[in-house]
Amino acid sequence: MRLRRCQFVMLELRERLGVDLQLLLADQPRLAFQTQWVALAAHLEHPVTLDAQEITVIGRLSASEWITLEEAGLQRDDAALAQLREKGLVFEATDSNAAHDADTRLRGCHWHGLAAVAHRHLRWSGVDSIAEQQRFAELFDGEPMAHLHDPPPPVFALGSAQPRVALPRAASSPLLDLLARRVTCRNFDQSRPLPQAAFAFVLDATFRALAQVEVTGVSVLKKGTPSAGGLHPTEAYLLIQNVEGVAPGLHHYHALDHALEPLQTLDAADVRRLASRLLAVQDYLADAPAIVVYVSRFERNFWKYRQHAKAYRAAILDVGHLSQTLYLAATERGLGAFFTAAVNEVDIEQAFGLDPMQQGVIGVGGFGRRGPTRHEIEFDPLHAVWPD
Ligand SMILES: Cc1cc2nc3c(=O)[nH]c(=O)nc-3n(C[C@H](O)[C@H](O)[C@H](O)COP(=O)(O)O)c2cc1C
Repeated sequence: MRLRRCQFVMLELRERLGVDLQLLLADQPRLAFQTQWVALAAHLEHPVTLDAQEITVIGRLSASEWITLEEAGLQRDDAALAQLREKGLVFEATDSNAAHDADTRLRGCHWHGLAAVAHRHLRWSGVDSIAEQQRFAELFDGEPMAHLHDPPPPVFALGSAQPRVALPRAASSPLLDLLARRVTCRNFDQSRPLPQAAFAFVLDATFRALAQVEVTGVSVLKKGTPSAGGLHPTEAYLLIQNVEGVAPGLHHYHALDHALEPLQTLDAADVRRLASRLLAVQDYLADAPAIVVYVSRFERNFWKYRQHAKAYRAAILDVGHLSQTLYLAATERGLGAFFTAAVNEVDIEQAFGLDPMQQGVIGVGGFGRRGPTRHEIEFDPLHAVWPD
C-alpha cells in the first residue's frame, strides 16, 4: 500500500460559542467556547473537521511522494488513516474516486496553495443576496448603517498642515466626458431586443484580440486592455436573454474569430430564472439583455506564474480592467452596464460546465439599453443619465 496526501490543505482553528451549563448553574452566565480543527482542502468542495489523531497521521504523509505504510510509521488498520481516506484527504496510489481525480487535476494547474484554498472556499451557491440584505436590515430595525461606526473619510489627506500643490485641469476631453457619463445601470429596457451591432461592438472593444504574436516562442494576444504577462487569461462566457439575431441561452466568445460559440439554447423564462440565480437574485441586474461571466483560465496565467504569490491577484485584476473597458464601450454606444462580484459561482460553474480550479468565475457584468424610467437606484449625482 502506497499513500500520499492531497496537494493543498490548510488547517483552520474554528471556534463555536455556546452556553456553559456549569457556569449557568453557578449563577455566572457566560458563553463557553469550543474549538475545532477544520481542514480546508483546495480539491474538496466543503471543509472537513479533523481530530488530533488525524492531524498526526496526515502530517506523516508527503504531498508529492507516494510512501509505504512502513515509511509513514503507520499500521494498515489505523482508524485515523481510514477516516482521512474517507474524507478525501489521503489517497492510495490505485484509488479511483472523485476526490483523488480532483486532486490530480489540480496538480497540473500550478496554483499557489493559499490562493487555491481561498478560491475554492469563498464561492457562493444558491445565495439570495436581497433576502440577506433584508434580514440584516430587520436585525437593525431597518437602519443597519446607523449601527455601524462612522465610516473612514471618503478622501485621504496627509493633513491640513501639509502644503498642497494645485494641478492644472484639461478644459475638455472626450475621455473625461465619457467617464463622466459612465453610471452603473440597474434599469434595463426589457421592451425590445438589444441591436446586434451594439452588442457586437461592446464585445469587440472589450474582448476581441487585435493581434496574435509569437513572443520568445509563446503565442500571445494583443488586446485593448492590459493583462499581466500579456497572457489574457480571462474568458467571456455569455448569458444572452434578448439580443437581435442571437439565440437566447449560453455562449462562449471566441476572441480571435470575434464569434459566438453557442453552448445551450434556452427559452426566455428559463434564461431569466437562470440569470436571477446566477446573480444572487439581484433582479435589477438580471434584466440585462446581455450578461457576461468573467472566467479566469487559471492554467494560462499559472503556466508562467507558477505557485506565484501574486498570480491569483493578477487574474482578478485582469477582470477589473476588462470590466472598465466594457463599461466605457457600452457608455460610448449610449448603453448601460454593470459589474458585480455578488454572484453564485457554484451555480454558474454548473450552468456552463466549468471546473472552478481550471476556469474560475471572478465576477459578472452585463449591458444593454436603459429603460425610460428609473425604478432602481443609480448613482448619478452629475445627472449624466437621469435629468433629476
Ligand atoms: C467589484 C465591484 C462589485 C460590485 N458589486 C455590485 C453589486 O453586487 N450590485 C450592484 O448593484 N452593483 C455593484 N457594483 C457597482 C457599484 O455599486 C457601483 O460602481 C457604485 O455604486 C458606484 O456607482 P457608479 O458605478 O455608477 O459610479 C460593483 C462594482 C464593482 C467595481
